[in-house]
Amino acid sequence: MKTIIEPFRIKSVEPLRMTTPEQRREILARADWNLFRIAAEDILIDLLTDSGTGAMSAEQWAGIMRGDESYAGARSWFVFERRVRELTGFKHIIPTHQGRAAERILFACLGVAGKVVVANTHFDTTRANVEYLGGRAIDIPIAEARRPADEHPFKGNLDLAELERILGGAEGEVACVLATVTNNSGGGQPASLANLKAASALCRGRGVPFYLDACRFAENAYFIKLREPGQGERTVEAIAREMFRLADGATFSAKKDGLANIGGFLASNDDRLSRQEKELLILTEGFPTYGGLAGRDLEAIAVGLSEVVQEDYLKYRIASTRYLGEGLVRAGLPIVQPPGGHAIYIDAGAFLPHIPPAQLPGQALACAFYEEGGIRGVEIGTLMFGGTDPVTHHERFAALELLRLAIPRRVYTQSHIDYVIEVAAEVARRKEALRGLRIVEGAEHLRHFTARLRPLE
Ligand code: F0G
Repeated sequence: MKTIIEPFRIKSVEPLRMTTPEQRREILARADWNLFRIAAEDILIDLLTDSGTGAMSAEQWAGIMRGDESYAGARSWFVFERRVRELTGFKHIIPTHQGRAAERILFACLGVAGKVVVANTHFDTTRANVEYLGGRAIDIPIAEARRPADEHPFKGNLDLAELERILGGAEGEVACVLATVTNNSGGGQPASLANLKAASALCRGRGVPFYLDACRFAENAYFIKLREPGQGERTVEAIAREMFRLADGATFSAKKDGLANIGGFLASNDDRLSRQEKELLILTEGFPTYGGLAGRDLEAIAVGLSEVVQEDYLKYRIASTRYLGEGLVRAGLPIVQPPGGHAIYIDAGAFLPHIPPAQLPGQALACAFYEEGGIRGVEIGTLMFGGTDPVTHHERFAALELLRLAIPRRVYTQSHIDYVIEVAAEVARRKEALRGLRIVEGAEHLRHFTARLRPLE
């Protein structure tokens, strides 16, 4: 059969609210052209993020009912710990309320001040946590990753020559190296097992900790199975376990490949570091057997971590993302190639050459998608990563100006996606009329969440 179907049926539904283009123009103006400021009720198809927006399975809801809410030593904690240890092999597992809490605790305890943290590409919160603690975040994706139209099976790979140079001390002391799998800001692209192995060996040779930012580990492992020579016969679980075994630790947001609505963890094999991390955890998140989560959340994550490596699910997941990508290309929009795991990234810089980076082409396109069809995506460009560089104090621009359409897990059907493609075609028809934006108010860190913007004439 050629048709890849959703490997589930729907037991509970949520209504969507329709709005007119006139209403949406008004809503956009009231939100100061920042889609984070729009109430979710005013969105028709919400592709803002795949984080925490997935639909849980019947088994996960059953886990919610089983949740043990004891403060210390809850049964749900042991269920969670068992599954995370089985999958990752790490000695110390610390639950956190989401991924960025794990990042903050890790970077605080590693002590990144005055040092550098190196990644294929830091996600926004990761970069912000490094910079907030006085460190410098350096991105070293392979050269192909900087060219959206180029096809490469593993655009999430780290540039190993650059890694070797930096580990040699060229940019200062290295606090740790991160492999973000899949590489979210770089297009949801996977890293290969070979690249992770080589990066791990280089780090071990220098005594620098090598971590996975493992948010989308299952999608990455499935891409390895599909694309890496010699991996096609292995299970996704086996590949995922090997990925984790190459690292000294991991940060994880269970809101992605945990198939849960909240949660995360920080893991490592380092006794001294984890003792320190647990102290900070108790101070800011909670006791080490719940870490800011309810017992029921721990149950839902434990089940999610088993469901996410099922290959029927991953086959559907990757096929449905590719379906959106192919439709957008047919509609005339350039995308980061090949399609990523959790999202399609439209190359707004290439699509709207009349809007320079300083006028935020990705955000202009995000607003156009909302106005045209009530679709919410997120700019991943200069609104997100620009601003004043904390070290050089120069105006900073993003490497690419992208609009990301992220697909929540198990939520939208193929006809929802067909609608998105139709909206994209309409936007493409009137692209010359789109105008840039300027920021009239913005915070120092993570300005995209709260900024107020105005369209340029
Ligand atoms: N690392 C990566 C690669 C991420 O994509 C995210 C979140 C985080 C860390 C932080 O995790 O949200 O649980 O604190 N990404 C979401 C997104 C928000 O839309 O891509 P968190």
